[in-house]
Amino acid sequence: MAELRATQMLVPNMHLLTVFAPEVACGMRPGQFVIVRAEEEGEPIPLSVADWDEEQGTLSIVFMNVGGTTNALAGLPAGNTLPSVVGPLGKPTEIDRFGTVLGVAGCFGLGSIFPIARALHQAGNRVIVVLEARSSFLLFWEERLRSVADALHIITRDGSKGLRGHVGRLTEIIAASQPVHRILVNGCTFLLKRVADVSKPFAIKTMVSLNPIMIDGTGMCGVCRVTVGDST
Ligand SMILES: Cc1cc2nc3c(=O)[nH]c(=O)nc-3n(C[C@H](O)[C@H](O)[C@H](O)COP(=O)(O)OP(=O)(O)OC[C@H]3O[C@@H](n4cnc5c(N)ncnc54)[C@H](O)[C@@H]3O)c2cc1C
Ligand code: FES
Repeated sequence: MAELRATQMLVPNMHLLTVFAPEVACGMRPGQFVIVRAEEEGEPIPLSVADWDEEQGTLSIVFMNVGGTTNALAGLPAGNTLPSVVGPLGKPTEIDRFGTVLGVAGCFGLGSIFPIARALHQAGNRVIVVLEARSSFLLFWEERLRSVADALHIITRDGSKGLRGHVGRLTEIIAASQPVHRILVNGCTFLLKRVADVSKPFAIKTMVSLNPIMIDGTGMCGVCRVTVGDST
């Protein structure tokens, strides 16, 4: 059982939950996720951790309301309890002194890239954050991300903030920021693919945070297997 300490709709359809789960918050590392259930008989779903506080014993999750469980989570008020929060899970993001790192985020990835950008910044990297959204009203945590970045760029499809267009505009940002030693991408699968395509000609190591369907998250069922190149 984990108490919901705070809930907030950040922008339309995007929600922030702060959960009291001290045993999970302790030992959490950037890039990891938790598996939560909204109701006792409900499905467990994986969600990345966007921040945590070991002293307070809390962790924060940013999620998009897309279906059954996320809709139930979005409807829970602070003070309610989640039947389970399991974690920390997943391979943490490699944090080292790489040089210049570009962190690209869209959708709920604006939340989950935050602890990664912070850790890379603390490790002495030059961190450039790129936020992508359909329109400026869908952006959140801009100032929070700016506080852990050496530079921050915005791309909006409608041009209401920053560069107008889609993530193809990243080509200009990469060219102007050279040398870039690593690119990290968090967000929806389409964004991950587009950024990987854009970064390929530059031959920059690009790490994407994949979000496959998961059932148990324990490594037993094999549902979360993904094919990369010729191997799974
Ligand atoms: C490691 C990991 C970290 C994740 N982190 C986040 C996060 O921080 N924030 C966030 O909003 N989401 C995140 N996701 C995706 C999230 O788990 C799904 O959106 C969620 O499981 C949907 O559950 P639901 O019951 O609300 O929707 P459902 O009713 O199960 O499905 C609604 C729609 O979403 C699709 N869908 C379901 N699961 C996924 C999935 N895993 N990936 C892509 N599409 C899916 C379904 O095909 C369907 O079209 C993460 C997924 C993984 C594997
Ligand atoms: S969800 Fe990964 S093995 Fe079952």
